Amino acid sequence: MADTKKTGTTTPVRHDRLRTELPAILPSLLLCDFANLGTELRKLEDAGARCLHLDVMDGHFVPNMTYGMTIVEACRRVSDLPLDVHLMIANPGNYLRQYRDAGADIITIHAEAVDDPVPLLQEIRRLGAGAGLAINPPTSVESIVRCLPHCDLVLAMSVMPGFGGQIFNPVALEKLRFLRDWSTKNMHPLFLEVDGGVNEATIAPCAQAGAELYVVGSGIFRHAGYARPMQELRALACI
Ligand code: DX5
Ligand code: ZN
Repeated sequence: MADTKKTGTTTPVRHDRLRTELPAILPSLLLCDFANLGTELRKLEDAGARCLHLDVMDGHFVPNMTYGMTIVEACRRVSDLPLDVHLMIANPGNYLRQYRDAGADIITIHAEAVDDPVPLLQEIRRLGAGAGLAINPPTSVESIVRCLPHCDLVLAMSVMPGFGGQIFNPVALEKLRFLRDWSTKNMHPLFLEVDGGVNEATIAPCAQAGAELYVVGSGIFRHAGYARPMQELRALACI
């Protein structure tokens, strides 16, 4: 499937590539050196990254502000890796086309940010991107079951969104188990993603619970070299 939106040229569906790269460690760029973004992305690719996680915060849905389409577009210009864009913003429906045009391959909205995620998930798919739905620790997984047929990815947050370097909340594990069972029972493939406090101590329980995509910020960027932590984390996720 390709997207022929703007110029009539086809836009590759990069997120499909991820199916052959699991388990995958997704560096969260929140803590990277933005003054040298191009160099950082090359270092991450050399370290084995197969997808990049971009945290978009609007200072409204979450108590922090990061970046928007400009940084997504800049990453798109220097890397061909799939871009997994995590929208922690109010009114995400107003910006889906812009993030797709900027180069997002997966667009994840928060269930807590909208009344009904289904029309937005359908719109994300119409745009040719993978449709992701995120839930915060207090949000039950049962509350999004009716949305799952419209999802390509579900993100079980293991911290309240807004900052890197927080402590992992194990409430995400039960949700991952539920989603894995739902996906098998309904024969509906879902990328199961976990985000927040994922590190050497917490990644194996996530793998046992069914996670396949592991977003890691401080667990990678607190190290000078990225290859070693990436390889060690991936080895721990291979159960
Ligand atoms: C938090 C973000 C995460 C965060 C992860 O709201 O969604 O992606 O950057 O960072 P660590 O791995 O340090 O918790
Ligand atoms: Zn994130």
